[in-house]
Amino acid sequence: MSTSTTTSTTAATGRVDASRARPRPIILDCDPGHDDAAAIILALGNPAIDLLGVTTVGGNQTVEKITRNARSVLRLCNREDVPVHQGASRPLLHDVEVAAQIHGESGLDGVELPDPTVPVAPGHAVSFIIDTVMAAAPGEITLVATGPLTNIALAARIEPRIVGRIAELVVMGGGFHEANWTPAAEFNIWVDPEAARIVFEESWPITMVGLDLTHQALATAEAEEGIRRIGSELSEAFLGLMAFFRRAYKENQDFDDPPVHDPCTIAYLIDPAIVRTRRAPVRIETHGQYTTGATVVDLRGQAPEDVHTQVATELDHAGFWRLMTEAIAALS
Ligand code: BDR
Ligand code: CA
Repeated sequence: MSTSTTTSTTAATGRVDASRARPRPIILDCDPGHDDAAAIILALGNPAIDLLGVTTVGGNQTVEKITRNARSVLRLCNREDVPVHQGASRPLLHDVEVAAQIHGESGLDGVELPDPTVPVAPGHAVSFIIDTVMAAAPGEITLVATGPLTNIALAARIEPRIVGRIAELVVMGGGFHEANWTPAAEFNIWVDPEAARIVFEESWPITMVGLDLTHQALATAEAEEGIRRIGSELSEAFLGLMAFFRRAYKENQDFDDPPVHDPCTIAYLIDPAIVRTRRAPVRIETHGQYTTGATVVDLRGQAPEDVHTQVATELDHAGFWRLMTEAIAALS
């Protein structure tokens, strides 16, 4: 699906990608969130990506808090020209569930972030996604989702033509063996499983960057050392966020180093050699007795010819942290 060079045909769908000689235009739908903040930084700091806008969705914290966080991260990166559109405040059917134990009361605990100076952009996140995709050439826009899939599902239902128009949808969520919020489910899918089901049942090409991949993206001492050497306001803020994330992941999930999930989606778009994938059908469990929110991935044998989904399997850890470090340095 993803390619970092020139025009290509997607493996899963036969759909023609727009030229990749220029930076890839993306919309990042997110819920910052420590690792969402890292995804914003990587998208802004790598020349292969053109971040057209940030859309927000209630997830790690309330949509008001995480929308403010997105704007603060853009200020920190001196990129408040990127619009932030606020989206859904709650899942389609379920009650709001936030991840304060991982991201704190603010959603970005661990550092004092600068106040945003640019207001929230007018227009709902879902309208921004639809309008941007419909105004662009077919195959031009890539959607990246690193929060619950509420906005993406609503966009697909309100304007079904976007399904045939995007280049690709890259989702941080789910896992084929790993789970984190319940024994069977990853947080983003668990929060809004009905939205996830809508999204995965549409025919657009989806790359699922799930926990099996992101649990390899550990912020090790060595990875952090390279960032510390940058010695800028941004690198210090990043390390402050990682320090909080480290404690939270140790206390809650017994990780020695925290997994930095969300920027793996951007790394995949920048260089697919850093995030290896495998084509496979994915189904979303919405009413299991113990398994609601599970992503059921069929890894038996060859994938069917017409499969439209692939799952990320293997991360080049050093390559991933090289990209993160370069992005922070570029924005510093
Ligand atoms: C996902 O859940 C959130 O807490 C993180 O930001 C990430 O998107 C990991 O399960
Ligand atoms: Ca997230």
